[in-house]
Amino acid sequence: MWHSSEGEFTAEGKQCSRPGCCSWDASVIEAILLVGGQGTRLRPLTATTPKPMLPVAGQPITVHQIRRARAAGVGRVVLGTSYRADVFTRALGDGADLGIDVAYAHETTPLGTGGAIRNAAEELNCGPNDPVVVFNGDIINGLDIAALVDGHVSSGSAVTLHLTTVEDPRRYGLVPTDETGRVLTFLEKPETEAEIVTNQINAGCYVFRRSVIDRIALGRPVSVERETFPGLLRDGDLVRGVVDDSYWLDLGTPWDYVQGSVDLVTGRAPGAQIPSGAQIRGGQSLVLDGANVSPEATLSGGTTIDRGCVVAADAIVDGCVVMTNVHIGQGARLFRSAVGAGAKIEAGAVITEAVVGDGARIGRDAVIGAGARIGVGAVVPDGITVTANRG
Ligand code: GDD
Ligand code: MG
Repeated sequence: MWHSSEGEFTAEGKQCSRPGCCSWDASVIEAILLVGGQGTRLRPLTATTPKPMLPVAGQPITVHQIRRARAAGVGRVVLGTSYRADVFTRALGDGADLGIDVAYAHETTPLGTGGAIRNAAEELNCGPNDPVVVFNGDIINGLDIAALVDGHVSSGSAVTLHLTTVEDPRRYGLVPTDETGRVLTFLEKPETEAEIVTNQINAGCYVFRRSVIDRIALGRPVSVERETFPGLLRDGDLVRGVVDDSYWLDLGTPWDYVQGSVDLVTGRAPGAQIPSGAQIRGGQSLVLDGANVSPEATLSGGTTIDRGCVVAADAIVDGCVVMTNVHIGQGARLFRSAVGAGAKIEAGAVITEAVVGDGARIGRDAVIGAGARIGVGAVVPDGITVTANRG
């Protein structure tokens, strides 16, 4: 049994024993998943599919995250949707197939990360002192979510942030802490060298005390990173950071997206749940049920070939994500690329570190490389070379 400002908890049941103190029960921990962003950096893949619904190792990022949350004791998740909300509701419904309650909080105009959290809180059932786990919807990691929640409750923090360390922190929120883990400042996407005071960053998973979420303004855009966290620090609330340097990746760019899927297939990223009927071949590739891969084709480097694909003889597909119903012709070679649903890659084409939109056609012997992005339904004529700067 331990006590915190949130009540008393037993190690086994994690149920507060003080009448009326709080209602936290680990079996019904609630979470909010932020899935409303536009996924701009992942275009054209996100033209039809919102970023969190893009497949990694054969299943949507969101499904992967929900399964991990459920394994950590989360019993109910509210999806904060905006862009292409219909895709989530159609695929996940009420969550029955995933063994978890799924609810939705829709924003007709995007409310930003903080506004989305506040909006989603309208759908929560828990009490004011209970912990609520919040996830950015584009992250895969090896975080011990249950330990983060336990530490949050026992420390009586207003918010606990998962932090990780990266070589180049400029794309992220910088979060220096003192020796006790107390967050000192929160600096989102620093613009000058002088602002880079740490390589410790916000890893996009938080545990909030419910009442702290309720203090965020309802119905207007709020950035949790630029407004809520700095405001809590100014007000002297206890905001703690927990550095966990296990596997972590934000899948926000095409190259990181492909890398995340590859890492799940090869086992470098933990927790891949392989769809039923799929086969992992030699620890190097994942072929989903209903794909037709020639025995003369070579799949390697953590490639996924999704349902309904055809891969012809002598094709090489290395370190790629190939979505549903793609046709890869004889002798085509694809490296570290993402290919959208229904695309057709003709014989002899070569694609390197590129993105091919849904339904595009890459002509015979065409060469696509150096970070090129081929639009949805675009046609690249036979023999043409397309290059672009990797962005
Ligand atoms: N519902 C909703 N509404 N969701 C949103 C909105 C919105 O208006 N804006 C963004 N999101 C969701 C995105 O779908 C994504 O899952 C998550 O919020 C974070 O947005 P990103 O666009 O991916 O942010 P980022 O990667 O630039 O930065 C964030 O993540 C970093 C870690 O990966 C910040 O939280 C950084 O501080 C952090 O370091
Ligand atoms: Mg992101």
